[in-house]
Amino acid sequence: MGYLRKAMLTVASEVAWRLPGWPARFVTSFADSERASGIDMLAAAEHTERGDLRRKYFLHALDESKHAALFLSRAMALGGNKERARAALDDSGTLQRHGTVEGRSMFERLGEMEFLAFVWVAEADAVEQFGVYLERQLPDPETHATLQAILKDEHFHVSYSRQELDRFRKQGQVAEVEWSLFRVRRDRWLGAWLRFSREFGVIVSGLWLGLAYAAMLGPFRGLAALEPGGWRPPLPRPACSLATARSQA
Ligand SMILES: [Fe+2]
Ligand SMILES: [Fe+2]
Repeated sequence: MGYLRKAMLTVASEVAWRLPGWPARFVTSFADSERASGIDMLAAAEHTERGDLRRKYFLHALDESKHAALFLSRAMALGGNKERARAALDDSGTLQRHGTVEGRSMFERLGEMEFLAFVWVAEADAVEQFGVYLERQLPDPETHATLQAILKDEHFHVSYSRQELDRFRKQGQVAEVEWSLFRVRRDRWLGAWLRFSREFGVIVSGLWLGLAYAAMLGPFRGLAALEPGGWRPPLPRPACSLATARSQA
């Protein structure tokens, strides 16, 4: 792991795992990602023309589906939002949120080599990320044990995808493999930058709107006063039966 990446991961993880409510949100997002990854792998199993890889993609999909369920149960135990956690296992919306663009799966858009490059980079990043959490002992003991169990599968995902990339290299496609890895890393950085920009934009626009509101409306506060009588409770609503409602149609 690069020194800079590890330092960034460590700082972000130390903060995120200690903020109230964040561990549950964090683990819920893991369940969501695992679920999406399982769908990508199933699509790859469907579209690949190589029988040996079809089996690996399918086993990989089963692993990711199992991981999604494990993370979901941890998210619920940590007090995660029930609806959001359940959505992580819901098929509806997953295809729009992850990987599938205009009805084409990630495998169809990238092709076998770049898809394998994506799998290798993403899985290796996940292994590094989980490794930092475990090394810093950030999750609670149950989540720690869950991460350890999941890491065994993730190591398999890293090793088979790396072997397949090495196989392409041995076949003389070294430049193509390096180009695929470059494109995958570039797109992941770009995606991360866009996500950060969106979150940053929400915070900054909230700040400026708050300041503008205070500066423009605040001075009038001294001139404003409540109407005589102040706030009043709402008037009770008249009872309305179904028959009465129908009669008004
Ligand atoms: Fe996984
Ligand atoms: Fe994985």
